[in-house]
Amino acid sequence: MNRRNFLQSSCQLCLLGFIGAATTSILDGCVAASSIYKTNVKNNEISVPLNLLNGQKVQIISAPETDFDIAVRTEPNGTYKAFLLSCTHHENPLNVVGNGFLCPLHGSQFDFEGNVRKGPASLPLTQYKTHVANGNLFITITA
Ligand code: FES
Repeated sequence: MNRRNFLQSSCQLCLLGFIGAATTSILDGCVAASSIYKTNVKNNEISVPLNLLNGQKVQIISAPETDFDIAVRTEPNGTYKAFLLSCTHHENPLNVVGNGFLCPLHGSQFDFEGNVRKGPASLPLTQYKTHVANGNLFITITA
């Protein structure tokens, strides 16, 4: 292999590596939730049918009574956690990404437990109490 062929094949390998890395990065940023469930707060609670959560890693809940959407995370042990999708840095809406929640304003990242993975935010996400009854998940909305 002469020098010219070596450089050409090396550049092609670099290009393939770059495309692979870019693809992985884009996929990491893909939304892990499938759709938004729209409902209302009644008696300080949101009710979500459990069958909606089956097989979902994260379900986004939207209610006009809350300033931000809520993410319901199904834990590996079958329990649920509900987080307000408001960045704790300056109250900006969060996006669900492959490995947690991302604030597009200044780049804070939170894991699926609501903990800060990357600042500038320093506080964890607001988490709501949940309980299961009659085939529904109930999320208690507190001020
Ligand atoms: S408002 Fe989210 S990082 Fe600043």
